[in-house]
Amino acid sequence: MGLISAYVAPWVNNIVAVDTSEAMLSKLAAKPALRGKVEVVCQDITDQPLDAQFDLIISAMAMHHVQDTDTLIQRFSEHLRPGAMLALADLDTEDGSFHPDDVKGVFHHGFERDQLQAILEKQGFGNVRYLTAHTVNKEEKAYRVFLVIARKR
Ligand SMILES: C[S@@+](CC[C@H](N)C(=O)[O-])C[C@H]1O[C@@H](n2cnc3c(N)ncnc32)[C@H](O)[C@@H]1O
Repeated sequence: MGLISAYVAPWVNNIVAVDTSEAMLSKLAAKPALRGKVEVVCQDITDQPLDAQFDLIISAMAMHHVQDTDTLIQRFSEHLRPGAMLALADLDTEDGSFHPDDVKGVFHHGFERDQLQAILEKQGFGNVRYLTAHTVNKEEKAYRVFLVIARKR
């Protein structure tokens, strides 16, 4: 938790880390690279938006845990200034074997890139670009992870 935030930290003034898990946020806040730079917020922004706007929103491997993708992307859009950037990494559509059966809160077995692009464009994003950021190999299966970058219009 907080790996990407720690990489980004030297280039930004402040980071607001949002998660619904206090435990995950505590791990993030303990990273030396983030000390004095991060504010943690334990909140589901699909239910309760923040009273703030940002220049960049990043999310890694969290979107498949949020049931309502449309509302999540709408919230991201509402929280970004015009011209600001969104960067989301998550699984390409997989067969449901990525998480063990007993893992709770998995709402999506990855995403179809063109369907997610349509949601992004509907919610006010342009310049949508995809790349394959990573491949997770486990139990003889390969799971592709995309990175999508988009600009708030
Ligand atoms: C697989 S972890 C990824 C964590 C981190 N981004 C990383 O790459 O290490 C998924 C995270 O999504 C969080 N999460 C699940 N539902 C959420 C929601 N509705 N709003 C915010 N975070 C949520 C979980 O608490 C968990 O920390």
